[in-house]
Amino acid sequence: HKKEMKHLSVIICHLVMFLCVSTIIPFGDGRKFHNNCQKYHKNYKDSCTSTTTIFNILSFGAKANRVSDDSKKLVATWKMACKTPEGVLQVPSSHKFLIKPVTLQGPCVGHVTLQIDGALLAPSKIGSWSKSNLFQWINFKWVHNLTIQGSGTIDGQGSNWWAPVKSKHVLDIKPTALRFYASEDIIVRDITIKNSPQVHLKFDNSRGVKVDNVTILAPENSPNTDGIHLQNTRDVELMHSDIGTGDDCISIQTGCSNVHIHHINCGPGHGISLGGLGKDKSIACVSDILVENSNIQNTLYGARIKTWQGGIGLVKNVTFSNIQVENVHFPIVINQYYCDRSLCQNQTGSIAIKGVIFTKIIGTYSTQPIHLACSSDVPCTDIDLSDIQLKPSRGPLGGSQVQQLLCSNSYGTSTGSLIPSSIKYCLNKGGGGGSVHQVSRSYDEVC
Ligand SMILES: *[C@@H]1O[C@H](CO)[C@@H](O)[C@H](O)[C@H]1NC(C)=O
Ligand SMILES: *[C@@H]1O[C@H](CO)[C@@H](O)[C@H](O)[C@H]1NC(C)=O
Ligand SMILES: *[C@@H]1O[C@H](CO)[C@@H](O)[C@H](O)[C@H]1NC(C)=O
Ligand SMILES: *[C@@H]1O[C@H](CO)[C@@H](O)[C@H](O)[C@H]1NC(C)=O
Repeated sequence: HKKEMKHLSVIICHLVMFLCVSTIIPFGDGRKFHNNCQKYHKNYKDSCTSTTTIFNILSFGAKANRVSDDSKKLVATWKMACKTPEGVLQVPSSHKFLIKPVTLQGPCVGHVTLQIDGALLAPSKIGSWSKSNLFQWINFKWVHNLTIQGSGTIDGQGSNWWAPVKSKHVLDIKPTALRFYASEDIIVRDITIKNSPQVHLKFDNSRGVKVDNVTILAPENSPNTDGIHLQNTRDVELMHSDIGTGDDCISIQTGCSNVHIHHINCGPGHGISLGGLGKDKSIACVSDILVENSNIQNTLYGARIKTWQGGIGLVKNVTFSNIQVENVHFPIVINQYYCDRSLCQNQTGSIAIKGVIFTKIIGTYSTQPIHLACSSDVPCTDIDLSDIQLKPSRGPLGGSQVQQLLCSNSYGTSTGSLIPSSIKYCLNKGGGGGSVHQVSRSYDEVC
């Protein structure tokens, strides 16, 4: 009986699919359809019943010849999709569109899908960028409820921006490829983003972000090409993605909380980082960050927190769990003396760091397994090191180049199986003294 029921439900399922697939109604500039809902709305299982309108950038006159500037066509297509309850902006496969810096603005009337199966190309010559618009290439602003998906590519063609600074005329500002500003409920999935002049995917002042199954690629020697950069953004899930660039795979800046990162393959690059926080005595607050079940290989750092001297604020409740590292120079780092120049003066005060767990960090390192450089003013407290197993990557004979652990002004506990065994003595017991609690309470008030 059960089997028959199953059969029947399969038949009904197929029938429904058939009905869905066979309804195509022409409509305006776009095409009202029910057929591709499976493809375009993997997330919404029952969207076969919804009315979706596709706006293909080609029908708005885009040339797709890689030479003509198609950005006005992109904006026009966006505006139509944005005005429609279930608008789909389609960038079709086998087509490449040259796009100059644009802002795709919301709010839109309903959910918008940006279906990218072809490629969007940024201008490759620095001279073709307008000097007044160098912050980002594609800027989503005030957009709520957007899905970007497809098998296509967003190509920043950034190699000309990466050359070492030769003359004073070279601009300090380099564009981020894709930026979301003050946006909400954003999903980015399946696409490839590559060769950004600088950061690849940035979210700031946003909320409700999901990045799933994306590929982010730039050469190992391309400067400041962070993969995903989060700032003042909360309720974030970054997952099942491959990120290899010249800087941080993922960088978490001030104002971020409730960020869940998992199943990330990171490398080459600088690992997964919080900070640098508190530059120029600024306030920084970061909390509730979980990074788990990820691989980091051939990077400079693995799991890292970095703060500048003199900052004010607090980093709390951060967990790095089940991270496989391979040939990582510094797998575990907290640095309260971060400085990106050759020398920074020490200041009084520092962002407080408390409640950081490193657990099941397993694999190989090439320089120093643990580097905890916490400040004497504001030590790091409630640090937890458990099941850390790190061996030199060059095997037992290459051990001469590796450095011993560095553990300063760090309080907490180490448990479980620890390699090297000296990790057992890395942390000071206790809470760091009464003054620490005083300090971290006052930081709590700032954040
Ligand atoms: C997003 O769009 C869906 C489908 O149109 C809608 O049901 C939902 O309420 C929207 N969410 C927000 C936050 O606007
Ligand atoms: C991930 O993205 C790729 C490339 O777009 C696609 O072929 C694949 O089906 C996606 N995987 C999942 C699980 O969605
Ligand atoms: C710590 O952060 C995690 C991940 O965001 C969250 O699930 C958990 O509730 C937080 N714990 C506390 C005590 O706030
Ligand atoms: C700042 O303090 C740290 C830790 O005490 C020390 O290693 C470093 O040399 C100091 N830097 C400067 C520029 O004084």
